[in-house]
Amino acid sequence: MSEPVSRRSAMRMLGAAGAVLGVAGCAGAAPTGAAPRTTAPSPAAGKTVGAAGIDALLAALTLDEKTALLHGAPDPAPLGQAGYLPGVPRLGIPALRLADGPAGIRVARPATALPAPVLLACAFDPELAREYGRVIGREGRALGQDVLLSPMANLIRTPYAGRNFETFAEDPRLTADLVAAVVRGIQDEGLIATVKHFALNNQEQGRETVDAIAGEQTMHETELRGFEAAVAAGAGAVMGAYNKVNGVHACESKALLDELLRGRWGFDGWVMSDWDATHNAVASLTAGLDMEMPGGTHFGPPLREAVRAGAVPRSAVDLAVRRVLTTMDRFGLLSPHPPARPARDPFAGARTARKVAAAGAVLLRNEHDTLPLAGASARSLAVIGPTGRVPFVGGGGSAHVLPERAPSPLTAITRRAGNGAAVRYALGEDLYGRALPPTLLTPPADLDDRGVDAGRAWSHEGEFTLDADDEWTLLVHYTGKRPSVRLDGRELFPVRQGVAEYFAGGLLAAAPDGLTVRRHTLPLKAGPHRLAVTAEGGERGQRFRLRHTTRASRAADVAEAVKPAKEAAAVVLFAYEDATEGSDRRSLALPGGQEALIEAVTAVNPRTTVVLNTSSGTTMPWLARTGAVLQMFYPGQEGAAATADVLFGDVDPGGRLTQTFPADERATPVGGDPLRYPGVGGRQEYSEGVHVGHRWYDAQRVEPLFPFGHGLSYTTWEYTKPAVRPLRGGLRVEFTVRNTGRRKGTDVAQVYVGPSGELKQDQPVRALVGYRRLALGAGEERRVTVDVDARALSSWDPERHAWVRGTGPREVYIGRSSRELPLRGKAVVASG
Ligand code: BGC
Repeated sequence: MSEPVSRRSAMRMLGAAGAVLGVAGCAGAAPTGAAPRTTAPSPAAGKTVGAAGIDALLAALTLDEKTALLHGAPDPAPLGQAGYLPGVPRLGIPALRLADGPAGIRVARPATALPAPVLLACAFDPELAREYGRVIGREGRALGQDVLLSPMANLIRTPYAGRNFETFAEDPRLTADLVAAVVRGIQDEGLIATVKHFALNNQEQGRETVDAIAGEQTMHETELRGFEAAVAAGAGAVMGAYNKVNGVHACESKALLDELLRGRWGFDGWVMSDWDATHNAVASLTAGLDMEMPGGTHFGPPLREAVRAGAVPRSAVDLAVRRVLTTMDRFGLLSPHPPARPARDPFAGARTARKVAAAGAVLLRNEHDTLPLAGASARSLAVIGPTGRVPFVGGGGSAHVLPERAPSPLTAITRRAGNGAAVRYALGEDLYGRALPPTLLTPPADLDDRGVDAGRAWSHEGEFTLDADDEWTLLVHYTGKRPSVRLDGRELFPVRQGVAEYFAGGLLAAAPDGLTVRRHTLPLKAGPHRLAVTAEGGERGQRFRLRHTTRASRAADVAEAVKPAKEAAAVVLFAYEDATEGSDRRSLALPGGQEALIEAVTAVNPRTTVVLNTSSGTTMPWLARTGAVLQMFYPGQEGAAATADVLFGDVDPGGRLTQTFPADERATPVGGDPLRYPGVGGRQEYSEGVHVGHRWYDAQRVEPLFPFGHGLSYTTWEYTKPAVRPLRGGLRVEFTVRNTGRRKGTDVAQVYVGPSGELKQDQPVRALVGYRRLALGAGEERRVTVDVDARALSSWDPERHAWVRGTGPREVYIGRSSRELPLRGKAVVASG
């Protein structure tokens, strides 16, 4: 679990910083409608040493001790966390342990695996986000951690981005609200939150080298909103991104760190680098980076030398140390009696995990009352798909949490369907492969589940012959050192050092029994093939198996799934897409043979619900054949129960999409322009400007597959009586929402505002300015008030480096998604 300090050295890229562009003037005059600067709340009031105590520590620390507080080091007693800061025991400065989130505590021990933030976000519920943060905060403290490396505030800019599941939304306003709430929740429990990755880290492809070019207005009105909100909520730490921003490494950007974050927003915590994202001690420290992670390549000996040589003033080191200590003190960590660590509460964690997963569930489609499962449909069911049995808990990379438990959807559905029901299961697609028949090989060999003792080696060399051309997937499952598998002289599973190796995926990277899995798909010609396998026991011994699937085995799996689908009254088909940090998706289609499986199953049973355990937008050429589609993203350890809650109608699907699902891969805000995504020659331009996400679809009049804010309920809703009036430089929007159906339900009312004719800035056709999650009983109605503040009506003026309010008549749209806005109103926003 733990990342060796050297693991990213292969990823480190040195590069000359180019010209600063755009944000240099951010520390300008006090803006109209700027977010209020808050004094960071102190979770440890009464247990601090205060400014005088920190002064005394600074006076007592040697230069070596000071720099040791500014970079990570190997942990003498690692708990499996990502980072460690040794502290200075002689002065009572304790060590800090820093663990990854964002959907649970990533350490060597099991923790509550919460739903991915992208699913939490779909609930449009900041209160729930705070509860989510609290679970992580408490567990982090209980599991020996002091700092959480989350939340991730980067926007979903493209559906391809590998880490979309770790973040919240394409919409800046919603992201800001949720990031702030999660930060508060984490810190309520005394764990220091780190908002990351500052800034413009919106993709994995080329993330260490890409230079993201964005203008001031674009940045302030889109990506920066979440970070600003985290600072206002009192986040203790910020993590600088890998990429460059406007020509300068994010961790060396004075414009971002010094002028904007500290100068303009008043951030008083500390800034650490992403793992191996520091390039130069002098440039980073003087730009405002306080801490290098995970080691001391730059902030260790080179920083000390630079100080001694006079290249870095001692005051710069003191300032960085002061920021670290002040934050630690704010959380009571410098007190002789620091806050006690609580015990884990796995039951409370599990309850929140289930609540969040059900609250965020988005029902994308529901024809002919396919859902909720009731009557015959609830009594005669076929559950299909590998992730129907092996639960899809979370994504891969640094976000992967060791779940406390992870029951299977099949079990949850069978239990909920009850005694009299018939629930049959079919795999549909084999993710882990079948054994190679020993007799296929000459000489015969059993390559399934072999053990190799420590210090021993085992090898086999043989031949097999195919009667016809085929496409094979070869899979190696193993513990310990990966075996070498050579087919016709070519190594199929080379061990690559660095990123690709570490970020191998969430679900697919391990077999249900925990063995690591690697796959290789390749065409094989009819005729003989040579296979050579070598395995080494190493120090601890090794287990491995070599498996495969073929065209025929895949067709047989689909045929096996069609049988129960035909006989059952209804089908629940689980589909997946396994995203991970370290790489972007190459296609928005479901991977593997899943599209064919859905086609085959829906052809024999139109009452098929497809449950999607996917990270972000998916294209769905099969959509029209389905009865229902339920988007569950990565639902965490209680995802199975939450999915059953929604399928059977115990909970109304209250989630609404926080990102637009495109109808066509080429028609997305970054589609068709490689300079926008993934970048050309290491440079990418955010030329979509303020039109991120749904704003782009509206501006370009592109029809999405499912719009931002979309999600069906099991009941019906009516919106009436809009009223809009000016209020304190903003607007008060009122309307009535009525549950017109016969069951209790949840809806998310959304308020959007059109542009101001009095501003010269480019503005969104409609910007989300407010929302309200509502749970109403059958026939119940509620008068809803949404206050729109001045900031929500403002644009960033790059000439004045300030927010300017969009005065004059403003059109207001109210409804159930960015494309279902039955109510309108208008009010004049007065100047002054
Ligand atoms: C990721 C961070 C993470 C860090 C520590 C980096 O590769 O970008 O999000 O917190 O590793 O694991």
